[in-house]
Amino acid sequence: MKIISTIRELQENLNTCKKENKTIGFVPTMGALHQGHIELVKRCVAENDTCVVSIFVNPTQFNDKNDLLKYPRTLDADCELLKQAGCTYVFAPPAEEMYPEPDTRQFDFGLLEKVMEGAFRPGHFNGVAQIVSKLFDAVKPGKAYFGEKDFQQLAIIREMTRRMNYRIEIIPCPIVRESDGLAMSSRNTRLNNKERQEAVLISKTLFESRKLKDRIPVEKLKEWVIETINKSPELKVEYFDIVDGNTLQPISSWEDSSFKVGCVAVFCGEVRLIDNVQYD
Ligand code: PAJ
Repeated sequence: MKIISTIRELQENLNTCKKENKTIGFVPTMGALHQGHIELVKRCVAENDTCVVSIFVNPTQFNDKNDLLKYPRTLDADCELLKQAGCTYVFAPPAEEMYPEPDTRQFDFGLLEKVMEGAFRPGHFNGVAQIVSKLFDAVKPGKAYFGEKDFQQLAIIREMTRRMNYRIEIIPCPIVRESDGLAMSSRNTRLNNKERQEAVLISKTLFESRKLKDRIPVEKLKEWVIETINKSPELKVEYFDIVDGNTLQPISSWEDSSFKVGCVAVFCGEVRLIDNVQYD
């Protein structure tokens, strides 16, 4: 496994792969890797001749400066995990490499970005689109792997790929959870013991809501989820919405969509966590 920090060196290596007709798979990450990331990497390794993983804490997608400062950085441990998972190249550039000058591009994802994360984290998806398009240009993969944990991000990336005519297949990967159900996240390491214990209520409530679905109208179920999570003194729901999985627009009746997803953002102490479930 090679660790590379410049686009030039990355492309020199990947050009050799391409000359040998090797397929290239790509997993973009911000590091502080956990089993959720590693499942994406394993799938990428299994489905491609060459697996590139990027590790870059992208400043332009953080709307909260404190979140950026406190974002965990564990490059050595990350590289060890990636080596074990069979990754070929780790691309870990410094900020100047990705942003030699400020990126002034403004993306417009229409209604997809008007809801949920897009509404509560202004500029976030613009930053995600800036960095992912730069990384796609640098790596030029055949396939790129994204987790369903960031459900809205996946929809935005699909839309960006379509609009920018990238010939990249976007592969969605299921949410990986801790044994008690909490969705794995790099931010989980920032929770203290009490918060970590209480955080399980997020996934537990989402799973329960699936069982209640056939008995309760959409609006009532939304209220129930928010109230149930907010019962914990450590937790504060920022939003919970039930949306159509393709358009991401909120539904008001179960018949409105055949692909229904409940998406939540919750503050657990200072740490903001997201999760989602699909309803059948
Ligand atoms: P990051 O949060 O590091 O996540 C990298 C990838 O891992 C994303 O596609 C995310 O959805 C996936 N992932 C994280 N936790 C997961 C889990 N528990 N189960 C399954 N997949 C999981 O998402 C980003 O970084 C950034 O926005 C990025 C796309 C790299 C752009 O900067």
